[in-house]
Amino acid sequence: MVPGLLEGKVAIVTGAAEGMGAATLHVFARAGAHVLAADVNAEVGEATVASVREAGGSASFFAADVSDWSQVEAMVKAAVERYGRLDCAVNNAGVSPDSQPLADLTEAEWDRVIGVNLRGVAICLKYELAQLVAQGAGGAIVNIGSVNSFRPQPNMAAYNAAKHGVLGLTKSASLECAPLGIRVNTICPGGIDTPMIQRAFAETGWSEADFAPVISLFNRLGRPDEVAQASLWLCSELSSYVTGVALPVDAGYTSR
Ligand SMILES: NC(=O)c1ccc[n+]([C@@H]2O[C@H](COP(=O)([O-])OP(=O)(O)OC[C@H]3O[C@@H](n4cnc5c(N)ncnc54)[C@H](O)[C@@H]3O)[C@@H](O)[C@H]2O)c1
Repeated sequence: MVPGLLEGKVAIVTGAAEGMGAATLHVFARAGAHVLAADVNAEVGEATVASVREAGGSASFFAADVSDWSQVEAMVKAAVERYGRLDCAVNNAGVSPDSQPLADLTEAEWDRVIGVNLRGVAICLKYELAQLVAQGAGGAIVNIGSVNSFRPQPNMAAYNAAKHGVLGLTKSASLECAPLGIRVNTICPGGIDTPMIQRAFAETGWSEADFAPVISLFNRLGRPDEVAQASLWLCSELSSYVTGVALPVDAGYTSR
């Protein structure tokens, strides 16, 4: 963590109650940002924000479901009302993958996964970009994809499609917004130790000892803050010549 890298900047982090979103909230606040932490889980989200404030950071919670257009519009409005502007955002909110062959996929399961992991990113981009464009002073957005954005796994068709789609959204936004000084990038995490992966272990009976050799050249799961640090870099001026990329943070998984 580089102190002050986002000094005085205003950031939105979605899915900030737990996992990588919570780590991103902490890292951005320590870097000097005012962070609007958005999540559907208000109880845990408020507690996470309280821990950031106890550590001396500037953050506040906003209850929003990223798959709902009006709630996302209100989320961006709240950031501007509370902190005066918007400089950067990390569109991280996501739900667990589907877990059946494509032939058994249900409408409800498709809608659950696509609704948050693809539609949610599109809606967040729409309202965040509208604000950044109106301000006319550039900005930076990170969308959270996955190693599944490049390398699909079986029995996760909706998740694979959503995460591939995040790359398309990122490229579209980066093309449109580069002339405006707004950078848009994707981070593609590998196996990261969050509540999402722990739920998957509980359902499958796998453990880190089983999964780490498959998913990581370092033979361990990643820590949420290791992804948050990459988001920090992509939202800071240190990455001023970087837009439209998909950055794996995956301990070499996709290089193998
Ligand atoms: N954990 C991994 O190994 C891994 C790997 C690759 C990509 N990812 C992606 O990283 C992101 C974060 O995952 P995580 O592992 O921290 O998950 P997590 O389940 O630990 O945390 C996700 C957070 O998003 C929130 N959320 C869920 N639906 C929401 C909605 N509709 N609106 C707003 N908030 C919502 C949850 O309440 C939770 O706080 C996701 O996009 C996920 O697909 C995770």
